[in-house]
Amino acid sequence: MKRNTATVASFLRPAAAAVLLLLFFGWDEQAWAHPVDRPLSPVLRHPQTYQDVRQVSEHYQRIQAKDDEDDTSMRTIPRVDTNDHHLEICCLHANILDYYLTNILHHTNNDHAHVHRLKTNLHRISTDLQAHGCNVTQYHDHKNAVDFRTKLEKMEKKKGITKAIGELDILFSYLQDYCVEPRNSTAA
Ligand SMILES: *[C@@H]1O[C@H](CO)[C@@H](O)[C@H](O)[C@H]1NC(C)=O
Ligand SMILES: *[C@@H]1O[C@H](CO)[C@@H](O)[C@H](O)[C@H]1NC(C)=O
Repeated sequence: MKRNTATVASFLRPAAAAVLLLLFFGWDEQAWAHPVDRPLSPVLRHPQTYQDVRQVSEHYQRIQAKDDEDDTSMRTIPRVDTNDHHLEICCLHANILDYYLTNILHHTNNDHAHVHRLKTNLHRISTDLQAHGCNVTQYHDHKNAVDFRTKLEKMEKKKGITKAIGELDILFSYLQDYCVEPRNSTAA
């Protein structure tokens, strides 16, 4: 559970701040076109999705911590090279999201109350990102995508699935941070 307090906290801080602002001002897509970059999928900025991601991933982190006390600090989703173009980092994680949708999330049997709603929303994000030009196949051989799949394949299947869902928060915060319209300070 160590990564909860340190690593993940640092990842989620910008996202959490955005959500706090959303809660403060109320949810209004139009109003949010300006102060933060426009997301390539509106679902990425929906507080409900963020909350579902957090709750479901924490639920699986707890299962994992019980099963496997030694191995909670290793992560399977590699850190990004922040020098890469934002859209590339976004589409790389759209590829990883696609892997979750086809290989991981259907093993969950909706065992957490919000899993079904979350799956629907993640499908929506995937469709939106592909509509914005993310070619998921193009990133199949990207080093990070390969490293991610290799780590999972080395784990026992059920543990790998638990581990991966526990990292949905990491995946989601990358999508939130990088799947945005190119910054344009003069745009209205
Ligand atoms: C997506 O990428 C793959 C692999 O690079 C390529 O073969 C395919 O033509 C691309 N699809 C589109 C629609 O660009
Ligand atoms: C960015 O700003 C330029 C100049 O104001 C404008 O022509 C362009 O359409 C804007 N691009 C986007 C993506 O808003």
